[in-house]
Amino acid sequence: MERKAVYAGSFDPVTNGHLNIIERAAKMYDELTVAIVVNPNKPGFFTVDERAEIMSQVTSHISNVRVDTFSGLLADYVNANGFIAYVRGLRATTDFENELQMAQMNARLFKNNTETVFLMTDPKYSFISSSLIKEVASLGGSVDGLVPDYVAFRIKEQALMPGIDILHRRTQI
Ligand code: COA
Repeated sequence: MERKAVYAGSFDPVTNGHLNIIERAAKMYDELTVAIVVNPNKPGFFTVDERAEIMSQVTSHISNVRVDTFSGLLADYVNANGFIAYVRGLRATTDFENELQMAQMNARLFKNNTETVFLMTDPKYSFISSSLIKEVASLGGSVDGLVPDYVAFRIKEQALMPGIDILHRRTQI
């Protein structure tokens, strides 16, 4: 039986921290789905379609990664797709409490014994978040080494568009 896992998030945009988790998780399972959540409560800089396109580009070198999008309850998506593991990255102790809460809630909701599996984020990336990357890159600061080159290019391109407010652009879902 194929061992399939999922790594979910907003990925607005994907960073090298995420990519590091994806590369490591892809080695652990036959197939890793990177699932981009459509979250109406979290304003997006890139649309979900743009994020999926960017994610496909930057993971094209990993043959067993597929990119998908979903909305609604993560557990419904997991149960419908037969994933044996839900992968999460832990950056610092500050992530822990929230992750514990989500993992315990998801454990009640997951069917088929799906496990939440935590990978420790590479310390090189433990201080970054997608919001911080967007802010620094759009204001001309260097994010070299923190995101794939293609992501840095897409942020700068987007931020130069007239009328774009880097932190408050709403995604057209
Ligand atoms: N490297 C770099 N940055 C990282 C990272 C890593 N390894 N891991 C997390 N981050 C960043 C993310 O980019 C994000 O930054 P942002 O807030 O600036 O966008 C931040 O840390 C939080 O990441 P995460 O906790 O993964 O949030 P998310 O919004 O990306 O994803 C879901 C949240 C999808 C996991 C969660 O909202 C969900 O499950 N939603 C579906 C609804 C549901 O089922 N809810 C009940 C859950 S019990």
